Amino acid sequence: MPRVKIELADQSYEFEVYDGANLLLEAASRSIPLPFQCTTGRCGTCRVHVQEGMENLSDYTDSELYRLGDEELVQGGRLACQLFVYGDVRISVNSEKSE
Ligand code: FES
Repeated sequence: MPRVKIELADQSYEFEVYDGANLLLEAASRSIPLPFQCTTGRCGTCRVHVQEGMENLSDYTDSELYRLGDEELVQGGRLACQLFVYGDVRISVNSEKSE
């Protein structure tokens, strides 16, 4: 099973998910305080940065390409509500950047 590590506000969370699981739903179901609002890729609140394993995530959605600027995309920016996990990943959340 894919292994997810989330680094958020000096805390680190690790858990396994089934193949193709949605990152935001998996985090929320474990009470990990990953910020979110709309869950549909429209608000940008669930912005995260992929530190490792970008190749193990679903392709960019149109919402991500629209919401995240070129600079953030290059730095590994993604929207957690738009992400489906297919392998091990390490994610960081910079709460100061969340809207
Ligand atoms: S929760 Fe709004 S874009 Fe993900």
